Amino acid sequence: MSNQEPWGKTVLVDFSDDIAWVTLNRPDKRNCMSPELNREMLATLDALETDDRCKVVVLTGAGESWSAGMDLKEYFREVDGAPPIVQYRTRRASGDWQWRKLRFYVKPTIAMVNGWVFGGAFTPLVACDFAIAAEDAQFGLSEINWGILPGGNVTKVVMDTMGHRDGLYYIMTGETFDAVKAAQMKLINEAVPRAQLKQRVTELAKTLMGKDAVTLHAAKEVAKRVMSMDWDTANDYIYAKVDEAIFQSGGHFRKGAMKAFLDDKKLKPGLQTYDPENK
Ligand code: COA
Repeated sequence: MSNQEPWGKTVLVDFSDDIAWVTLNRPDKRNCMSPELNREMLATLDALETDDRCKVVVLTGAGESWSAGMDLKEYFREVDGAPPIVQYRTRRASGDWQWRKLRFYVKPTIAMVNGWVFGGAFTPLVACDFAIAAEDAQFGLSEINWGILPGGNVTKVVMDTMGHRDGLYYIMTGETFDAVKAAQMKLINEAVPRAQLKQRVTELAKTLMGKDAVTLHAAKEVAKRVMSMDWDTANDYIYAKVDEAIFQSGGHFRKGAMKAFLDDKKLKPGLQTYDPENK
């Protein structure tokens, strides 16, 4: 690993199968997110965006926790009395990676949930494109137990993702729930037996790698942005993004798929993805 790489302390990165396995690395603190970790994660995501070893980012946690949320000591107590500019910069650094960067990240992102997910950790969880968890992983909006409400963008991501009743229930009770329940409530895509977690995540990453990368990014950006648009605006925006994606990608994938289907009769795109390597 070169000295140029911005991870190595509170964040680790391994590369295999064209996947960057990004690990929140404060296991003795249950991977709660300190200002240092937030800065390291932002720099890591920035670097991976242009790193050819990474086609998909998987975000996981070291040890028994995915993340126990914001660091109550370093992110809250030690910053509470600081001048407003320090508080502002600390909060901004947290939001910068947890949702501003992650939500529209240029490469696909998968949260591989290995254990505890509390409070502030819901934001990067939801900002990832997909979330797959070990069945016994536990989730909790514990803020109410601390006498605070789910801050940052936690309340927003919960109410945008879970149903109204479920969201309010867990925000107001602070009760925990397991990954099977999280999948039922659509907070995550799937809960799988722990022994199959990495295999299932790898399988999903490989499926995503088979698609045209430019179109994949445009599809996700459009899907996330149209949710707050009216129908006419959405229609106009979607067509603009369709044209942009064809322009940026060169349209070769689309042309090749059309030829394979319409002319060569070799492909059923309804059932399989076009493989430019195997025309
Ligand atoms: N902020 C700061 N420190 C945290 C933390 C957090 N969010 N979560 C865990 N830690 C620290 C503990 O203070 C402890 O530090 P220490 O070894 O210096 O005493 C260490 O991590 C291990 O925590 P511990 O509680 O002993 O581990 P556990 O396995 O018994 O329990 C949890 C794990 C996650 C259930 C428990 O740590 C917990 O409830 N954490 C708070 C989670 C939370 O409410 N997060 C939302 C914040 S808004």
